[in-house]
Amino acid sequence: MAQIQPVVPATRPAIRNAAMMIRRGNLVGFPTETVYGLGGDATNDAAIASIFEIKKRPSFNPLIVHVSDLQMARSLGVFEDEAEKLALEFWPGALTLVIPRAARSNTSLLVSAGLGTIALRVPNHQVAQDLISESGRPIAAPSANLSGTLSPTSAQHVYDSLGSAVSLILDGGPCQIGIESTVVLSEKSGTSVLRPGGVSQHAIEAVVGYALSDNLEKSGKPRSPGQLERHYAPSHSMRLEVCDPQEGEVLLAFGAKFPTVCKTVRNLSIQGDLKEAAANLFAMLRDLDQIDSEGISVMPIPEVDLGVAINDRLRRAAARPNEQQS
Ligand code: TXA
Ligand code: MG
Repeated sequence: MAQIQPVVPATRPAIRNAAMMIRRGNLVGFPTETVYGLGGDATNDAAIASIFEIKKRPSFNPLIVHVSDLQMARSLGVFEDEAEKLALEFWPGALTLVIPRAARSNTSLLVSAGLGTIALRVPNHQVAQDLISESGRPIAAPSANLSGTLSPTSAQHVYDSLGSAVSLILDGGPCQIGIESTVVLSEKSGTSVLRPGGVSQHAIEAVVGYALSDNLEKSGKPRSPGQLERHYAPSHSMRLEVCDPQEGEVLLAFGAKFPTVCKTVRNLSIQGDLKEAAANLFAMLRDLDQIDSEGISVMPIPEVDLGVAINDRLRRAAARPNEQQS
């Protein structure tokens, strides 16, 4: 049977259809002024898990959440003065702000990879804007390519990289900027660049009024983005690949067969479904960490498909702080 071609021109009806798909938890390829994104409802854990699945990312890097404007951004993140200044200057545009996640935010913890921060951007592209307002959801979107390959700047690139794994790709023509957004971390102590991109460091310095202590290595080469962010770490100690947990521990289980000695058990997926497990991972870890216990035991997770990313995050979470990569 012939494959249905998922690339369609970004007409109003096509955007409306795409927005409906987003609301239903499906993924859509869409243009922004920087690169094409693979978008999903940022408030839907399962949708976010499928982003990682389709991109075949070996780890859960946090994703950028795309919003309509500063007002919508304020419902998801906490803006200090400097972040507000940067948003007013560069939005809509190629600047992503990493700021504290708002306590009342209903975005998936998987979007933030379990961190207390959230990356926000207002895209300067009519199709992206229409998709967000039509769906009424914040849209999480990494670049729409397989992990480790070049970012797509046309709808055809998206199709070439992801094929029919995405059922709808909105074609809005080539991206004007063609490189990803600049990602900055905005903290009380100041702003620093996590990833160079479409907005120059110079332009940001002109707004904040000081030289940025950037995160580039002396060589001038950016460190791999996945290394830049801190990793989620629970306050309790963690033991991995445990089949015989202690009574005083809490258990993060996986699958239908799990030990019953622990009073508190959270099961990532009784069906043994890795996508469901990914969707539950950070929320359940946080939940177990709230409970007074001798530690968190985690059952073995198969090292295949999304299990690779789950195990990567579990190992980082289990590492003592001084063993963590920066
Ligand atoms: O231009 C772009 O930024 C495109 C379009 C689609 O908007 N998106 C994009 O997303 O390039 P992605 O997922 O490929 O890159 C997101 C970057 C990663 O380097 C990630 O580590 C960083 O943003 N990031 C996201 N959330 C973060 C957080 N909470 N803390 C630190 N870094 C974060
Ligand atoms: Mg990317």
